[in-house]
Amino acid sequence: LILGLDSSTQSTKALLVDADTGEVVDARTAPHPPGTEVDPKAWLAAADDATAGLLERADAVAVGGQQHGMVALDDERAPVRDALLWNDTRSADAARDLIAEMGGPQACADAIGSVLVASFTSSKLRWLRDHEPEHAVATTTVLLPHDFVSHHLAAPGTEPFTDRGDASGTGYFATAIGQWRPDLLEQALGHSARLPRIVAPGHTAAETSGGAVLAGGTGDNMAAALGMALRPGDVLVSVGTSGVASAISTTPVADGAGVVTGFADASGGFLPMVTTMNAAGILDLQARWLGVDHDELAALALQSAPGAGGVTLLPYYGGERTPNRPDAVGTWTGLTPRTTRADLARAAYEALLCSLADAVDRLVAATGAQPQRVLMVGGATKSAALRELAPAVLGCPVVLPPPGEYVALGAARQAAWALAGSAEPPTWPAPETTVLEADPTPHVREVYADLRARTDTWTTTPSTEGT
Ligand code: XUL
Repeated sequence: LILGLDSSTQSTKALLVDADTGEVVDARTAPHPPGTEVDPKAWLAAADDATAGLLERADAVAVGGQQHGMVALDDERAPVRDALLWNDTRSADAARDLIAEMGGPQACADAIGSVLVASFTSSKLRWLRDHEPEHAVATTTVLLPHDFVSHHLAAPGTEPFTDRGDASGTGYFATAIGQWRPDLLEQALGHSARLPRIVAPGHTAAETSGGAVLAGGTGDNMAAALGMALRPGDVLVSVGTSGVASAISTTPVADGAGVVTGFADASGGFLPMVTTMNAAGILDLQARWLGVDHDELAALALQSAPGAGGVTLLPYYGGERTPNRPDAVGTWTGLTPRTTRADLARAAYEALLCSLADAVDRLVAATGAQPQRVLMVGGATKSAALRELAPAVLGCPVVLPPPGEYVALGAARQAAWALAGSAEPPTWPAPETTVLEADPTPHVREVYADLRARTDTWTTTPSTEGT
């Protein structure tokens, strides 16, 4: 049996999985405090809770975890302060400073595979140096969240370890060649610090106290890709608070525009990723404005025709990063006396899908690989309208994997791989998927692209002058 953990921003989930079939035989979840700044020892308590009764049954274990978080440890390997997580934005200025010091965005992307943002560990270390110098000075080891949990599960005396997937979100890892850049860590923190050993994909990192094989673990996005058995030609689109498009690529990317984040994956390849800021929230707002629930919104949208009776929406309500318009607001066009509530509902779905299609396009442009199919996950995929309109707007088949704990499952697959000592991860029967197909509606995307181009130079922040 194999144990896979997902140490996420809210909780720790543990799945006990059959090594031969990938079937889940037992599962437990333990909550831990959410937020953007958390005592990392809370994750260890949650991991102990979630694995109680499961750990001793496992022959191999691995941990998937939230990416980027800064776990700064002192000489005793105790946290110098609470961890700053991926969703903590106080380090935005620090990211800008580091990019400038590295010679600009393209030089930064060439060095680490991505243009730094507030989420990255190095931005957080620079913030620490600038704002809490006493904590920076005390920091002698820096780990990622998943490394800290893995180290807790390892037999006493084990040196900390990580993998290239999670390392690629630190800002001091040369993703293209898979090596730490201690000089960049030193530049961020102000002095050098110890880094965990990088464990190669499919290798054993250590043993647990009970003698089980412990694999290197990885970041949550990389673990999910492994859990879904993504292969080159697949694009994974996740429709949550933000929209995320990612793909397995055999070559590294270095997008100086900062749209594509050039992560490594957990299988020896790369996991370029594009994020949009407005996704499921577009539908939430629309349902609220029309005074309906999500099922009614979907039913309304399906009463309208492709193109929503000429109504087009740019859904950049909260500003946007793909395209990069941090100050943007939403823009509606084509409203007439004939516009119906159904058109308004439909325009919201079409806008969401056009925005996701833009993200997929940027991914395709960076990797040069045309997607064979799009796998779509997230709560919004329950919507009948999203299911019907997704293949039409995206212009390719859309596959819906069944809901599942793919991060923990991916961690389990990594552990099974280390246990088997094989060249490739084990193949487990693919889950039953729903495949959606439809006639493409390219004009929907053309009208959207036209509106996007026309608004490119707009100052979209509403003016408060004279109020
Ligand atoms: C990726 C990112 C998030 C976290 C969530 O860059 O910041 O997806 O990994 O846990």
